[in-house]
Amino acid sequence: MLVRLLLLSSVLLSCISNGSGGVTSGFVRNEFPSVDIPLDNEVFAVPKGYNAPQQVHITQGDYDGKAVIITWVTADEPGSNKVSYGLSEGKYEYTAEGTVHNYTFYNYTSGYIHQCLIDGLQYSTKYYYEIGDGDSSRTFWFQTPPPIDPDSPYKFGIIGDLGQTYNSLSTIEHCMQSGAEAILFVGDLSYADRYEYHDVGVRWDSWGRFNERSSAYHPWMWSAGNHEIEYFPYMGEVTPFRNYLQRYPTPYLASESSSPLWYAVRRASAHIIVLSSYSPFVKYTPQWEWLQQELKRVDREKTPWLIVLVHSPLYNSNDAHFMEGESMRVVFESWFCNYKVDVVFAGHVHAYERSYRISNTRYNVSSGPAYPVPDKSAPVYITIGDGGNQEGLALRFRDPQPDYSAFREASYGHATLDIKNRTHAFYHWNRNDDGKRTPTDEFVLHNQYWGMNRRRRKLKKNHLNSVLSNLPLSLIF
Ligand SMILES: [Fe+2]
Repeated sequence: MLVRLLLLSSVLLSCISNGSGGVTSGFVRNEFPSVDIPLDNEVFAVPKGYNAPQQVHITQGDYDGKAVIITWVTADEPGSNKVSYGLSEGKYEYTAEGTVHNYTFYNYTSGYIHQCLIDGLQYSTKYYYEIGDGDSSRTFWFQTPPPIDPDSPYKFGIIGDLGQTYNSLSTIEHCMQSGAEAILFVGDLSYADRYEYHDVGVRWDSWGRFNERSSAYHPWMWSAGNHEIEYFPYMGEVTPFRNYLQRYPTPYLASESSSPLWYAVRRASAHIIVLSSYSPFVKYTPQWEWLQQELKRVDREKTPWLIVLVHSPLYNSNDAHFMEGESMRVVFESWFCNYKVDVVFAGHVHAYERSYRISNTRYNVSSGPAYPVPDKSAPVYITIGDGGNQEGLALRFRDPQPDYSAFREASYGHATLDIKNRTHAFYHWNRNDDGKRTPTDEFVLHNQYWGMNRRRRKLKKNHLNSVLSNLPLSLIF
C-alpha cells in the first residue's frame, strides 16, 4: 500500500509541473542530407505486373470507425474498382465496388485513382483486402479499432511535414515500429510543390508509393498544410488543394462538414477534430460554423479524449513561422479552453515543441496586451512538424524560451499517444537518433474531463490502481 501511495504521489507531482523553466534541448544529430530520395530508388518502386495497384492508402470512412476508405492508383488503364475483403487472407467473403477518376494538372495526367468505401465492419477485427486484377492483384490488411467506449485503449502515431527524403523514411519506419495503430497526420504530405510543371504530379505519385508501406495497413487521418495549397498561376493552376483533394479523401460528410478539409472522426475513446489553417475560419465562415456545432457533439462520457489536428501551430517559439497561427488562436482558443481540449497537434515548424497548459484569451483591442498564463482548462500544444522533408530543420528557437514552452528540440521524429483508459494516456516524442527510435520527451497526459473530477464522476474503485500497474517506470520517476 505504501509503495502504491508513493507511486501515486510521484505521478501526481509529475503532472503538476506547470511552472516556467522549460527545456531547450541542445541535441544535434548527424542528419541525412535534406534532399528528396531519387526517383529510381527502391522506396518508390512501382509494383510488378501490368496495371498493378499502387499508392495504396486507407483512412477512416465514417464517424465511429466501422468503415474504411481504400484508395489506390492504376497506371495503365482503369481496371477493376472492386475490393474483396474478409477475415482471412485469400478467403474473401465480401466485396465492395468503388469509383475511378483521373485528372490533369498542367501537362501532367494522373493515373486512374480508385476510391472504395467498405462499411459495416466489426470492431477490433483484422481484415484482409485484395485489389487489382488477376496476376497483378495485391493483398493488404488493416485492423479495425475497438468500439466507441470511454475506456477503449488505443495507440495513435503522430507525424507531420513528412516529405520524401531519407529522414522521412527514417521517421515512417520508426513510427511503424512503435506499434501505432492509426496515424494522426498534421499536414504537408509530399512537398511535390517544390517541383515544377509535370514533376509536381510525378512527386505526388512517388510519395504515394513511398507512404504505402504504412498507409495501406494503418489508417491515416489527413489534414492539409500549406504545401497542399499549390497555387501556381505560372502554370494556370490556381485552384487550391487540387492534387491533395483528388488523392486523399476524408470522411467529412459523416461529421456534417461541407468540406474535406475540416472534419471529425471518433475512434476508440478519442474524438478527433481536423481543422484547416488555410481555409477561411473567422466568425460566420463554414469552418467556424461547423466547429461550433461539432464541439457541441463531443460527448466526453463516450469519447473522453478530445484531440485537435491543425497545420499551423497556435503556440510556437521557433523563428520559423513565428506568429503564423496567431489569427486562428484569436478565433478558436477560447473554445479550446471552454471545451477542455486535451491536446492540439500541429506541424508546419520543422522542429519539436511542447507547451504547458496555458491560454491567452484576455487580450482585447481596448485593454492592450496580455500574455499566456497557466490555465488548467487549456490544451497542451504540441508542434511536431519534424517528419523530415527536403526543407530541413528549423534550428533557430527564440531566446529566451517563453514560460509557456515546456520542451523544444530541433530534431526529426514522430510521437505516439498511447491512450490507456478514460483518465490516462502516455505520450512519447521519439527522435530519429541516427537510425534508432529514441524516446526523448515523455509525460503522462491526464484527461481534461475525467482526470480533473475523479471523485465527482465516480470512477470505479480500482481504476487508479489499474493505471499505476500499467505505468512504465520511466514515466513515474
Ligand atoms: Fe507547413
